Formats: sequence, C-alpha cells, structure tokens
Amino acid sequence: MNPAELMPLTARHGGPMQGRVRVPGDKSISHRALILGALTVGETNIDGLLEGEDVLHTADAMRALGARVERTGDHTWRIHGVGVGGFAQPAGALDFGNSGTGCRLVIGAVAGAPVTAMFDGDESLRSRPMRRVLEPLEKMGARVVQVADGGRLPLTVRGAADPIPIVYEPPVPSAQLKSAVLLAGLAAPGETTVIEAEATRDHTERLLKHFGAKVSSKPHGDHGRRIVLQGQPELESANVLVPADPSSAAFPLVAALIAPGSELILEAVMTNPLRTGLLTTLREMGASIEVLEKRDDGGEEVADLRVCTSALKGADVPPERAPSMIDEYPILAVAASFAEGTTRMRGLKELRVKESDRLAATADMLRANGIAVEIEDDDLIVYGKGRPGGGGEVTTHMDHRIAMAALVMGLASEKAVRIDDSAFIATSFPGFVELMRSIGADLT
Ligand code: S3P
Repeated sequence: MNPAELMPLTARHGGPMQGRVRVPGDKSISHRALILGALTVGETNIDGLLEGEDVLHTADAMRALGARVERTGDHTWRIHGVGVGGFAQPAGALDFGNSGTGCRLVIGAVAGAPVTAMFDGDESLRSRPMRRVLEPLEKMGARVVQVADGGRLPLTVRGAADPIPIVYEPPVPSAQLKSAVLLAGLAAPGETTVIEAEATRDHTERLLKHFGAKVSSKPHGDHGRRIVLQGQPELESANVLVPADPSSAAFPLVAALIAPGSELILEAVMTNPLRTGLLTTLREMGASIEVLEKRDDGGEEVADLRVCTSALKGADVPPERAPSMIDEYPILAVAASFAEGTTRMRGLKELRVKESDRLAATADMLRANGIAVEIEDDDLIVYGKGRPGGGGEVTTHMDHRIAMAALVMGLASEKAVRIDDSAFIATSFPGFVELMRSIGADLT
C-alpha cells in the first residue's frame, strides 16, 4: 500500500463506555451463508449479513462463479444459487482482498466443481500459507494448475469433475481447512470425514444441516470431533439470520472492562461454545460479564451481555482453549496489560499466520505502550501493570484486529495510542469508529 493512503487514528483516555449496542453480523457465518446459498438451487435470503470488505469479496466471488447475488436492503441479501457442482467458469481472477477465510473456503467449494479458477488477494493474503488447504483438495481430485512460491497466492485450481470423498485429519486446528474439505465433499459421492484433534468453530456443519445436508458430529478424543458429511445432497434453500460477531463484540467489551465507570450492554452476541474462549478467560481474570438473556437465533445461541469496569488479574490461558478464541488474543493481550500480574497465553503458533504475524504484532503493540512482554516458543507472556502508560505508535501490518486492539488500549491508558492505519478495520467491522464513539470513545 502507498504510505500516502494510510489512515492513522488516535485513541485517548476519556470517559466511561456506556450504552447499548449491537455489533455487525458474524464474519464466519456471513461467508458461509453466501457460499452455501450459491451452492443451493433456489432462493436464499440472508438477514444480518456482515457488509465488511472480506465478506463482500466472497459475494463477488459467488457472482463470478454464476450465482445471482443481490443486496435487498441494509444487511439483507438474496442469492439464487447454482447447486452443488454447478459453478460456472469465472471470467477473471477471484480477488479475496485481505480474507483468508473467504479465499480458503471458496478454494474448497471450487475444488468440487468442474471449473478452473484463479485466486488472489492483497499483500497480506499473498503472504499466507495456502498449501495446507491444497493438500487435502488434491487428494479429492482437484488439480493445482499454478501456485506462487511457498504455496502462496496467486494460485489456480482446476476443480474435480468427479471428486473423491476422503477421511482427513487436519494437521493444525483450523475451521477453514475443515470447511474447505467439507465444501468440496458436498460434490463427492459417499462420506467425507474430517477428524479434528481439537474442535474448531462449527458454523459450516450447522449451516450445512440448516440447508438440509446430512452431517454428523461426534466427540473424538479429549478435545476433538469426528465430522461425517453425506455427499451429493439436494441442498434445500433456506433463510439465514446472522447473529452479532463475538470477535467484533470483544473490542467494545474489553473497552468497557478497562475504562473506569463503564457499563455497557452488547446485544445479541453469538455465544456458540466454540467461540467463547475469551469470555471464559476474562471471567477467570475477574471480569464482570453478565449474561442477560440467552436465546436461540437462527440455529446459534445468542445472549445480551452486560459488561462493567472490572479490576482484572493475570491468568494462565491453556493451549486447548486457543481454537475457541483464536482471533481474540490481541484484545486479550490488551486486557492483560490492564490486569495486575502476569498473563500467559499458551499455544499460539497459528497466530503467526493470520493477517499479520499476530504474535509478533501483538507483542510489539504492547511494548510500544510500555508493557513488558515475552514470547517463549508459542506462548505470549504479558506482565500487567494495572494501567499502561500508552503513548505509543502501533504498526498495524494490514491487520484489522491489531488496529482495533491498539485503539481500545488507548481508551484507558495514561497517554494516547496512535495507529499508523485504520483502513483495514473495514474488512471485519465497518462502522467500528462510529460505534465506539457512540459509547463514549475518544477517537480522532
Ligand atoms: C475462521 C477460522 C479461523 C479464524 C478466522 C475465521 C473461519 O482461521 O482465525 O478469522 O471462519 O473458519 P483458521 O481456520 O485458520 O484457524
């Protein structure tokens, strides 16, 4: 990106965080709803779709692959799908911008269709590993026609005319890998099986069932699952209600915990147990987070959360919790800086291959603001100070979650925190700045 295009932003210590807000729709479910809508013959209506750049790239990709995708109102979208195996040959490269999820899931869906597609993305996405998703898909019969050095984008995949069902054990806990194989498996005859050593978010499985596919999911080992999909289903068109994204809610939530005098209600936050590792950890640290009304919203559990300023203490976060809070470590590290005592977050290897090397970027963000941090193997250790000095300039490395976490830090640290670029926040949380200002944040 040209430095002239950077959009710096500064967060200053001000008043409490107060009010009642609803953050935008869940990113994971939004991508999946568009893809499954495109793989279903007939009309799918989606309400609450996240209209962030990442998801809009997936919508464009579904159009390029032959589905009719229309925006019918604010956050409401309609898709006329082409059916399993029914994708059309796209005219040009599919551009996924900053989105690893959109790209990897669509590679899976394309792997099960007789089309050839080129996948590309921005500089951050071009640096992320894609070999991990190509390996199982090649076993299913897809061909990698071209791939950049190191198994990176841009790459071209020729989908299998007759995909082969496989039994697959992902080498790393990744919902994206699991989902890519299941989406390819839709077009294969018989059973496609994914055996996860550690359970990851199950939105693909839940939505597949919602669209009428036969999917079973059973416990496997201490923390894992065995997921079996019956291939070649007649997907039935279904409407999807997208709940509020817990990974986005995490930012105002932690802001309310650390800004003195706060009381904030976050409405209808998805509380799928495979996404609530942050809530568990913050409660262990002494956070006051009350569940006001638990309910079911479109096949996912949701709840209103009341969050009040809390005196936090350090915690030891076990590695097996990582999949249920994999995107929340930057903001947890901010909470840990405001805690008394040491927080050790274990087993964060996967953070190195997110939108940035998030392990290094998180450590640098804290150091720039006067917090002592260590990285020991795959663990991040934060020496909490009660209240950080702040005053740092944070390099965001095209990473939306580093940008938002650093701004939250500045809302309660002694001196202001400046980020070099706020542009990437729009990939996952459009309206972040306005929503944060509406609850009392000083962002300029
Ligand atoms: C996602 C899975 C996670 C997560 C990403 C969204 C998904 O990635 O970090 O933001 O929607 O499946 P991995 O599968 O690489 O862990």
